[in-house]
Amino acid sequence: MTVKTAVLVSGGGTNLQAMLDAKKAGTMPHVDFTLVVASRADAFALERAKKASIGTAVLRKEKTEAPEAYGERLLELLRAHGIELVVLAGFLTILPENVVRAYDHRMINIHPSLIPAFCGEGFYGLRVHEAALARGVKVTGATVHFVNEIADGGEILAQQPVAVRPGDTPEVLQRRVMEEAEWILLPRTVEAVAAKMTEDRTA
Ligand code: GAR
Repeated sequence: MTVKTAVLVSGGGTNLQAMLDAKKAGTMPHVDFTLVVASRADAFALERAKKASIGTAVLRKEKTEAPEAYGERLLELLRAHGIELVVLAGFLTILPENVVRAYDHRMINIHPSLIPAFCGEGFYGLRVHEAALARGVKVTGATVHFVNEIADGGEILAQQPVAVRPGDTPEVLQRRVMEEAEWILLPRTVEAVAAKMTEDRTA
């Protein structure tokens, strides 16, 4: 039994790729990657999805659009595909409460630091690593967590520390955090949540 899963992306999609590779390798048996939703049409992640023959959609939040109205459009799309589990893999649009509520304990995010360090509003992508280097921490890492109404505030599911090395630039550190933490942690955690969901279904 599998769980119909949507992955929401905004950029390069290396975390999406890590999950698609894990699926292909057979280590995500409970996950059915049904749909990839991008917040922008030029997200390279869309190419990765198409290559893997996964359905794609682009859903941009218009500047004048109320957050809840955008949320309703997203919910309609997810419902139309029967999506049970949502993974935010580098998705940079803040989701409104109606979406968060609808997917309570069924929406997972990856964040490139050890929460509660360097997280919350304004901390995304390279900015997280810039902040970690500016503070001079010797250890950073990645966190996978459930999404709730507080930015990066939901229940922590898994964390992996990564060493900061002398001379690191934000780009070098970002790459190490991805390689040593994100690309391993995200597929493993999503599979664990999906496995539990199928178990609960049959209980
Ligand atoms: C990843 O490092 C992810 O952890 C981060 O954006 C990057 C997306 O890369 N997410 C956040 O900062 C969320 N606050 P990718 O598109 O190559 O997976």
